[in-house]
Amino acid sequence: MKPIRLITAAALMPALLWTGAALAEGNAKSDLEQALKLKPDLENGMDIYEVCAGCHLLEGWGTADGNFPQIAGQIAGVIIKQMADIRAGNRDNPTMYPFTLDRAIGGGPQGLADVAAYISQLKMIPENGKGEWKPGTPEYKLGEKLYKENCAKCHGEKGEGNVEKLYPRLAGQHYKYMLRQFEWIKQGKRRNANKEMVEQIKNFSDKEMKAVINYTSWLPVPAKDKAPSMDYKNPDYD
Ligand code: HEC
Ligand code: HEC
Repeated sequence: MKPIRLITAAALMPALLWTGAALAEGNAKSDLEQALKLKPDLENGMDIYEVCAGCHLLEGWGTADGNFPQIAGQIAGVIIKQMADIRAGNRDNPTMYPFTLDRAIGGGPQGLADVAAYISQLKMIPENGKGEWKPGTPEYKLGEKLYKENCAKCHGEKGEGNVEKLYPRLAGQHYKYMLRQFEWIKQGKRRNANKEMVEQIKNFSDKEMKAVINYTSWLPVPAKDKAPSMDYKNPDYD
């Protein structure tokens, strides 16, 4: 237990942006490979996480409006990959970019490994933002069919992701965030996207895109990974 030192992201931003260019981080692949091999230190991860909480919240739940993704419960390797991609410029995220630099994280690949491990064991939001088509509706069923045919082989039948291959966990993610990412991946705006996924989804109509993400947003998260209620607060910051 430790006192909260929540630095607001907005306050830190100018300083970080200013030093950002000078610290331009190298190569996403080598950061990733190194970080994946390191033994994480959760205490240090928690210290680093405070700066992330300015946007992703102390619980790591993000926001249902889709501006900030839930990161709690995400596969640690996926978090490391996304951070490494953002800092190397393979995935555009101007808001978050300065916070991916060594200045914010400290300790290079070790810091990445620590903060990712900390985030991945956080309890997930009990009620994520969902699409409008409830289970049982024709659109939900269309989405289910599309998901099973096109997505399950990588993201898993239950949206659990794939630890070895670094495919993101999708269950529990906010609908609006996923829809935006899906559109970006389809349009080629997210440059780190998996080429096979781009190929798989290139002929999706707008309706199919919404239906498949709708279904994904309703995939249940196992009870053990979820917080007990929406009033839950991250106990590490009591
Ligand atoms: C200033 C706000 C801000 C801060 C601070 C911030 N992030 Fe983010 N983060 C975002 C936004 C916005 C996105 C989604 C960007 C997009 O839509 O592509 C994001 C995306 C991510 C993703 C990708 C999630 C996914 O599902 O692909 C990860 C992982 C992540 N952040 C981790 C972190 C970590 C770790 C920290 C702290 C070291 C941090 N963020 C600090 C705003 C922030
Ligand atoms: C060949 C494997 C593969 C297939 C098939 C695939 N994906 Fe993905 N998907 C990925 C990978 C890998 C990423 C992460 C991109 C990266 O890190 O480069 C991703 C990212 C995503 C994201 C963004 C997640 C986030 O947290 O930012 C969404 C949403 C998504 N996929 C949905 C789908 C849906 C829906 C389908 C089926 C229509 C699908 N994917 C099919 C591999 C796949």
